[in-house]
Amino acid sequence: MPAVRTPTAIDHLFTEAQRALDTVFGNPPAQRPYPGQQAADVVMQAPARNHAAGLMRINHVGEVCAQGLYFGQAAVARDPATRQHLLEAAQEETDHLAWCAQRLRELDSRPSLFNPLWYAGSYSIGLLAGLRGDGWNLGFVVETERQVEAHLDEHLVELPAEDLRSRAILAVMKEDEARHADHAEQAGARTLPFPIPSVMALASKVMKGVAYRL
Ligand SMILES: [Fe+2]
Ligand SMILES: [Fe+2]
Repeated sequence: MPAVRTPTAIDHLFTEAQRALDTVFGNPPAQRPYPGQQAADVVMQAPARNHAAGLMRINHVGEVCAQGLYFGQAAVARDPATRQHLLEAAQEETDHLAWCAQRLRELDSRPSLFNPLWYAGSYSIGLLAGLRGDGWNLGFVVETERQVEAHLDEHLVELPAEDLRSRAILAVMKEDEARHADHAEQAGARTLPFPIPSVMALASKVMKGVAYRL
């Protein structure tokens, strides 16, 4: 039987780099069916289509950030159960990423030009949160997911009424994000102190402003 080699720090570094490249430049496949398929792809006038594309680009960036955060947090999680929790949530975020990318293509649009930057920033924040301990790590997940859930509610109002496909995608994402937050709460998340939630909300506001256009 061949000997099993213990992964070295260099192996981990390559794994992290590969994940980053896949998220930003690759097109990681979804493991669940595309929710957009359940709704008709209604042809929209250019202004409505462009607006929908701007909103879906924001959601795609949100998922790039989720990947960065979760992988950053998982890289330094102390408890194997916490790491497993983060990696499982990241798999569902990969589905979201793939669905948003597909919807952007259907809307004749493209992902944000700044995705490498969004990923690097989120990964660094994830590392910092993770280094403070697993309670913080999970607290970060809860706060992120709750903010994303609220933001998806806003988009479900803001999207053009005829964009049934984007709506179908966001509805499934919203359910998943709520479950991610619930699971992290049950796993022992601590409540993040002021001003961290406000700083996170401000950072995501800046991201949304840029990603809508670029
Ligand atoms: Fe997500
Ligand atoms: Fe999530």
